[in-house]
Amino acid sequence: MKLMIINGPNLNLLGKREPEVYGNTTFEEYFKKLKQKFPEVELEYFQSNIEGELIQKIQEVGFDYGGIILNAAAYTHTSVGIGDAIKAVTTPVIEVHISNTHQREEYRHVSYISPVAKGVILGFGLQSYDLAIQSFLG
Ligand code: DQA
Repeated sequence: MKLMIINGPNLNLLGKREPEVYGNTTFEEYFKKLKQKFPEVELEYFQSNIEGELIQKIQEVGFDYGGIILNAAAYTHTSVGIGDAIKAVTTPVIEVHISNTHQREEYRHVSYISPVAKGVILGFGLQSYDLAIQSFLG
């Protein structure tokens, strides 16, 4: 099965960024471990700080891949365009977050992704991505 992890803005700074919220591990380190843990999955990873590039990637893979694991980061709370892109494609999307956004500021309680996602996993640290992969494997 081919799965694409898409990470949004500032997630390229994992390991450095607010470690008390997001931990000390870089996504590159974690991604290597994920690939070892799920050798049966063709796992790919894309990160961008630019909203349009995230939409472009969803369109690019969204008719062929088995699943998309999307952490749209701050765009989760603002992006009608990313929500529309998810609606437009046929590949199911799981929304993930590292932190439990419902325990944080009120503006993080809104998601334009949740209503169009297959499911939502949040608050388990980087393990949220593991759980999303497992959900696709059934
Ligand atoms: C995040 C939560 C968002 O509110 C925030 O803007 C992020 C990361 C998370 O994974 O916990 O950048 O998506």
